[in-house]
Amino acid sequence: MTALTLNGIGKTYLLEDHQLTALTDINLTVETGQFVTIVGRSGCGKTTLLRLVAGLEAKTSGQLLFTPPNAKIGLVFQEPRLMPWLTVQDNMAFALLKETDRKLVEQTVTHYLKLLHLEDFRSAYPSQISGGMAQRTAVGRALCFNPDIILMDEPLGALDAFTRAALQKELVLLFRPAGKTILFVTHDVDEAVLLGQRVIVMGDGKILNEFAVPLPYPRNTADKEFYDIRTQVLQAIMTE
Ligand SMILES: Nc1ncnc2c1ncn2[C@@H]1O[C@H](COP(=O)(O)OP(=O)(O)O)[C@@H](O)[C@H]1O
Ligand SMILES: [Mg+2]
Repeated sequence: MTALTLNGIGKTYLLEDHQLTALTDINLTVETGQFVTIVGRSGCGKTTLLRLVAGLEAKTSGQLLFTPPNAKIGLVFQEPRLMPWLTVQDNMAFALLKETDRKLVEQTVTHYLKLLHLEDFRSAYPSQISGGMAQRTAVGRALCFNPDIILMDEPLGALDAFTRAALQKELVLLFRPAGKTILFVTHDVDEAVLLGQRVIVMGDGKILNEFAVPLPYPRNTADKEFYDIRTQVLQAIMTE
């Protein structure tokens, strides 16, 4: 089943004295349960694309179709954007504020606290936890919301290399069985190939190329197959 279709999407920002075209003729179909990574240089339009899909920004042209049409969308940004006055568990429960079944909320939050190894920190405040834990909390908040589609904009970009590698592994373990549709933006080619079943290469506001990654999870950057795909993706970015 198709979760998301982008037909000829374009975005032009009107600035004071000129126009800036951030996206040109973006065509993309994402199937339900697919893990799609979008990779490209800084400034190529990745964030703009995610913001359009999230409805945070209006498109200038083209069509954006969701299945179901009222699909719930979860967002994870580069910074965790937690509420400093709420504990880890209350931050995660934030998306369930309107849920009246408090037992269900408690169960859902506990489920994801366990999966994200945050159980011991459920009562801690954002100022008391590490950057990696804060980002896990942000992922947990998105999951508690139980979205149909999860959009992630360089969610691991601000983390140190070790925490980042650990969270890359966890993301795969977490999301693949859950069958979530994921659009994951990164400027890191290794990360794109480690996580995505499809890697979409963007450059200068356009989709330049797409690569299938038919490798089982968890993937190993030292494998020859991984290296070959990584090289192709890198070349696609460099030839822009
Ligand atoms: N709100 C905005 N107003 C004007 N220009 C913007 C705005 N957001 C992004 N841009 C421009 O659109 C282009 C794409 O930016 P962005 O989507 O943030 O790229 P990326 O996420 O790939 O680094 C850049 O040239 C950026 O300066
Ligand atoms: Mg960006």
